[in-house]
Amino acid sequence: MTTCDKIIVVAVTGASGSLYGVRLIAALLRQDVRVMAILSHAAEQVLSHEMGYDPGMGFHDFLTAYGLDPEIRKKLTVFSQDEIAAAPASGSFCHHGMVVAPCSMKTLAAAAAGYADNLITRACDVTLKEKRCLILVPRETPLSLIHLENMARLARAGAVILPAVPSFYSFPGTIDDLVDTVVARIMDQLGVEHSLLARWGA
Ligand SMILES: Cc1cc2nc3c(=O)[nH]c(=O)nc-3n(C[C@H](O)[C@H](O)[C@H](O)COP(=O)(O)O)c2cc1C
Repeated sequence: MTTCDKIIVVAVTGASGSLYGVRLIAALLRQDVRVMAILSHAAEQVLSHEMGYDPGMGFHDFLTAYGLDPEIRKKLTVFSQDEIAAAPASGSFCHHGMVVAPCSMKTLAAAAAGYADNLITRACDVTLKEKRCLILVPRETPLSLIHLENMARLARAGAVILPAVPSFYSFPGTIDDLVDTVVARIMDQLGVEHSLLARWGA
């Protein structure tokens, strides 16, 4: 196992925008970060639909096909949502932050209710109770009062609500550039260096 400065848990759920999760994981692995990724069942379906992911191939090989150096992949551990006994399910496992990107309204609701029925929702629950950094990247529109109240509840509990809302002032030229305007803000919240986006005023 490679020695890294930070361990970050990244859950990918079944909201549209799998690319947010994929580019975040790739960006973290390119830095000195060890990533524990958790894919929900719905995330696998949306990844297949949006990015041609083949569950039979596995996420590691998918990332290689996406262009990630196979050497860096060694810093990545991948879990399914069913692996409820995996490390991120316990508060005794120390990590430096958890991100759910993209975050479905279902996982958001479960996290807001403390309903820890799979590894993703359990890891959210644990991250909150241990007062560690939890960043949720919700993707839905329009938002119902239920969605908004769930977000407010999570914010009060200490989570960062960082919606998948790209910005345009850096003139992103491609979809990857547009997605990176959000990934950059997630990396900032995690305190991980990056050069994904020119800083305003720099
Ligand atoms: C193609 C596709 C796109 C979806 N987009 C969204 C979305 O943007 N936001 C959302 O909350 N749910 C979306 N869903 C529905 C979720 O996948 C569904 O609620 C699922 O139960 C979420 O489960 P999970 O949170 O365990 O991944 C989408 C489903 C599909 C098939």
